[in-house]
Amino acid sequence: MVALVTGGAGGIGGAIATALAGRGHRVAVADVDLVGLARKAEEFGGLAVEMDVRDPESVRTGVAKTIAELGPLDVLVHAAGVVGGAGPLLSLPVESMDAVLAVNVRGTFLITQAVGEAMVAARRGGSIVHISSAGSFQPTVGLGHYEATKAAMNALTRSAALELAPHGIRVNAVAPGPVETPLTAAAMADPAARAPWVERIPLGRLANTDDLVPTVLLLASLEARHITGTVLPIDGGQLLRG
Ligand SMILES: NC(=O)c1ccc[n+]([C@@H]2O[C@H](COP(=O)([O-])OP(=O)(O)OC[C@H]3O[C@@H](n4cnc5c(N)ncnc54)[C@H](O)[C@@H]3O)[C@@H](O)[C@H]2O)c1
Repeated sequence: MVALVTGGAGGIGGAIATALAGRGHRVAVADVDLVGLARKAEEFGGLAVEMDVRDPESVRTGVAKTIAELGPLDVLVHAAGVVGGAGPLLSLPVESMDAVLAVNVRGTFLITQAVGEAMVAARRGGSIVHISSAGSFQPTVGLGHYEATKAAMNALTRSAALELAPHGIRVNAVAPGPVETPLTAAAMADPAARAPWVERIPLGRLANTDDLVPTVLLLASLEARHITGTVLPIDGGQLLRG
């Protein structure tokens, strides 16, 4: 089985890439962070693919390189994403909105299109898993711009699931609550800033990447062969509270 993981140099993408390789997949990791990318690929003997998910050419070239070097794609895990700053909607610079839309929405569209097209052409089905966010269902002051992009990602997940189902291609997403990764490290370093995030979670702690990996592997695998179009929260129960 061949898997492509975008955001593979990052916390969540990196952990998923390592786990897929551990399950015997041939894995390509794609990212704009070339140093992190090289380090991660070397760590488990994967293929490093330079890719900017905002750029159609870069996405198509990266997908083609993966297929040329590893074979037809069975799995895409799309974990590339940015938060794009934080701030209330009334004062958030439009540049922050544009930046987060470009990576999280345009990027999800482009990678789904390129991988979907390749999977349809290969006629062997496949599984796509997007990394969304619990924030797509529940607002947090200061993150409205980011949450809007993850809600768009959920909509793209459902549309792609419907359109690709006749080809045996499943499309799902997971929606984590806060996860300890480089993305959140700065925000969570201050105990006073961290406490309100933990208090929202009935299971009483932030997630780590090990909490996400088994569910993503399940959705990527044939064990989930009758599951498509879902956006599954992995949030310690956070969405139970309003
Ligand atoms: N960490 C959390 O609390 C959390 C919670 C819910 C959802 N998520 C989502 O999980 C995903 C992974 O987040 P993470 O915590 O591992 O963050 P991270 O910053 O560790 O990893 C994100 C990766 O995406 C890459 N990236 C950014 N822009 C890119 C682009 N244009 N093209 C290709 N790659 C690009 C970065 O270089 C980085 O390696 C993101 O989509 C994020 O929104 C994270």
